[in-house]
Amino acid sequence: MRLFVNVDHVATIREARKTVEPNPLEAALLAEKAGADGITVHLREDRRHIQDEDAQKIRRGISTPMNLEMAAVEEMVCIALEIKPFQISLVPENRQEVTTEGGLDVIGHKERLIAIRDRLKPAGILFSLFVDPDRLQIDAAREIGADSIEINTGLYSERQAPDALKAELEKIRVAAGHAAQRGLRVFAGHGLTRKNVGSISAIDAIEELNIGHHIVSRAVMVGMLQAVEEMRLAIRPITK
Ligand code: PXP
Repeated sequence: MRLFVNVDHVATIREARKTVEPNPLEAALLAEKAGADGITVHLREDRRHIQDEDAQKIRRGISTPMNLEMAAVEEMVCIALEIKPFQISLVPENRQEVTTEGGLDVIGHKERLIAIRDRLKPAGILFSLFVDPDRLQIDAAREIGADSIEINTGLYSERQAPDALKAELEKIRVAAGHAAQRGLRVFAGHGLTRKNVGSISAIDAIEELNIGHHIVSRAVMVGMLQAVEEMRLAIRPITK
């Protein structure tokens, strides 16, 4: 199963200060070195983390495929045609949300999605749709000619009670099998952690995962020791 590492929240830390560090491209290169099969960035309309320049630099700088997540709007289609990532994933976007809150309503936006597909696919960009584990939305994705779907694991990741967790996992398993049977490539992501990823990665139909927040959070923790040790050395007075 392929792992695409989402580096958005490296940019979130940088944007907290509007400075130059940490650099999302540097994080992407380290992720590749550690075994990432690809890099994902979400260029949001409000540019709260990844900036246009980051997307350009990551596209040029990495050696694995780039997955560009974006809203289904004209501005983003133009940017995607310029950057030419390996793949784009359309996601619903709402300015007030803290993170993506649900899958796309493919059924309700077929015409718009077909128009976007007709501009991106001829440019050689794979066309993926982020959807909830819902058979009807998956059928609609197939109908409009998506290459792949990414199943939203957000609800699964929020479930605490064992029964509810099991039910949500089963929904994902059934949806993934349904999509794969219809010839769609199946990815999954949102809210995945080291603790909850095992059951998702055991689903045969899923071939790729997109994971961001947990990896960046963990990177802060495992890197803290070295960062403080380096600072202790740096503030040691220079002896003449
Ligand atoms: N997939 C999609 C479509 C997303 O919007 C996000 C969050 O940017 C992710 C996967 C990754 O989610 P997380 O950061 O919770 O791992």
